[in-house]
Amino acid sequence: MTTIPMRAELSVPAALSGKRVLLTGATGFLAKVVLEKLIRTVPDLEGVILLIRGGEQNGEQIGARERFRRQIATSSIFDALRAERGAWLERFFDEQVECVTGEVTETHFGLGTERFLALAARTGLVINAAASVNFREPLDQALAINTLSLFHLTALARAARAPLVQVSTCYVNGYRQGDMREEVVHPAGRTPIPRGADGHYEVEALAQRLQRKIERVRSRVQDPRRLEQALTALGIREANRHGWNDTYTFTKWMGEQAAMRGMQGRSLTILRPSIIESTLRAPAPGWLEGVKVADAVILAYARGRTSFFPARPSGIIDVIPADLVANAILLAAAEATEGPAQGPNPHRIYQCCSGSSNPILVGDLIRLLQAEAKRNWQQYDKLFHKEPRHDFRVVGNIRFRLAMAGVALGALAWSGLRRLVGQPGETPAMEKLRTTRLLAITFSFYAQPRYRFHNGRLLALARRVKLPEREQYPVDAALIDWEDYLCRVHMAGLNRYALKRKEARAAQPVPDLAQAQAALPQAEAAR
Ligand SMILES: NC(=O)c1ccc[n+]([C@@H]2O[C@H](COP(=O)([O-])OP(=O)(O)OC[C@H]3O[C@@H](n4cnc5c(N)ncnc54)[C@H](OP(=O)(O)O)[C@@H]3O)[C@@H](O)[C@H]2O)c1
Repeated sequence: MTTIPMRAELSVPAALSGKRVLLTGATGFLAKVVLEKLIRTVPDLEGVILLIRGGEQNGEQIGARERFRRQIATSSIFDALRAERGAWLERFFDEQVECVTGEVTETHFGLGTERFLALAARTGLVINAAASVNFREPLDQALAINTLSLFHLTALARAARAPLVQVSTCYVNGYRQGDMREEVVHPAGRTPIPRGADGHYEVEALAQRLQRKIERVRSRVQDPRRLEQALTALGIREANRHGWNDTYTFTKWMGEQAAMRGMQGRSLTILRPSIIESTLRAPAPGWLEGVKVADAVILAYARGRTSFFPARPSGIIDVIPADLVANAILLAAAEATEGPAQGPNPHRIYQCCSGSSNPILVGDLIRLLQAEAKRNWQQYDKLFHKEPRHDFRVVGNIRFRLAMAGVALGALAWSGLRRLVGQPGETPAMEKLRTTRLLAITFSFYAQPRYRFHNGRLLALARRVKLPEREQYPVDAALIDWEDYLCRVHMAGLNRYALKRKEARAAQPVPDLAQAQAALPQAEAAR
């Protein structure tokens, strides 16, 4: 076992004082929590640079500053800060937040060499939280944002002589089983990934091979929808044979490797959260944006669109509140300012997770959420349109497949009968079946865990934080009372923050389902 040397006390505000932090992904969920905490708790921050890609809204092209105004500055994440120090916050946004319109997936972010170097000269620390978190993204897009962007970000960090904190995921551990430590992941796929003389995996060569395969698919398939499906299937196939369940985790692992290669001899921290859910406490309990992994299943159940799922009740499901993750990122950022890691490991790797310090089992999580749904469904008006009528049952894989086949036969027969009497063939039962199948294809790996993530190094880092500050930057999941968090904090947060307007409800599909559905025929073929 590796011993962790005793180091001096750490203070986040002191370490980040006078720094200009470049943050990516701020239009997304996690980076907003990071941004808010950074602004709220580091009084002497020099400023923040937000690298945001240009976008389109209602047919209008908008740049980074406008996206900041519409999607970040107005976010409810700042409600508490706005109430306490509204004028100060507005001034900070105007004077200390710089928004750069750039494509993280392009060389020099598409800015040209001169502007890129000028940006590097202003950057004191880089935190990369931009990613495609769609598990079944077409391979070309996932590769660009989750892997290739790291070549450009490490070029910036090198030019800036700045540390890089790369937000990864515990699930880069892929198909490996057992205890997952805060170490470099060696893949467990049937197709080995070659390593160079320096011990690093040959990730550039792997990316080039994947790009050649992408090009071959592109030359074969012209129809845009079918091309997207084919590239999604290619991603899953490549992920599976190299040792991962999906394209997301495969390309994120490649991103870690690209970061390690690009930051040799430099300060690099890889921070791997597990499944990030709503905030535990700060800036408000239950804050979240969008409907995340487990929530897609909760939402489908709440809408009566699914009532059973393949899962392993005795497995540890690793959920972690977003504020604990944001704190971990800031602790890692503070430590990174001390320079490259010393000792045998050239880079720092931390896991921000609950599985080792306060585990919750899949079965207990489902039992708690279901009990709350039955007891208090009326309190969650945006989540539940009516009282949930069925229990949510979990079954093993084989029983799931048998049940799906049985229900499918029944639904087909029933829809045949309806057609005979002149009614539309599609029945609610068939729709439910499709939703259940899509959810299972996308998420069942995460509900059948055979691994436990460990975070001993992160907890050791947290012990370095000065005593009065420790309260402000908690990272330890031992703090969580699961019943209170899941049943009150998270359900209320999901209802309040993730599901906003009533009109949006009817049109709102279970997130990722539309995409998963589009990719279904190939995705199934790939399994
Ligand atoms: N959510 C989780 O449960 C979870 C768990 C473990 C690790 N993580 C990691 O945490 C980080 C943040 O995740 P999140 O949940 O906050 O994701 P999110 O809400 O989906 O936000 C993703 C961010 O990445 C940006 N992005 C996506 N594709 C891009 C592209 N091609 N070019 C430039 N920017 C792009 C998005 O910008 P646009 O607005 O321009 O699309 C957005 O700002 C990611 O690194 C993810 O891998 C997340």
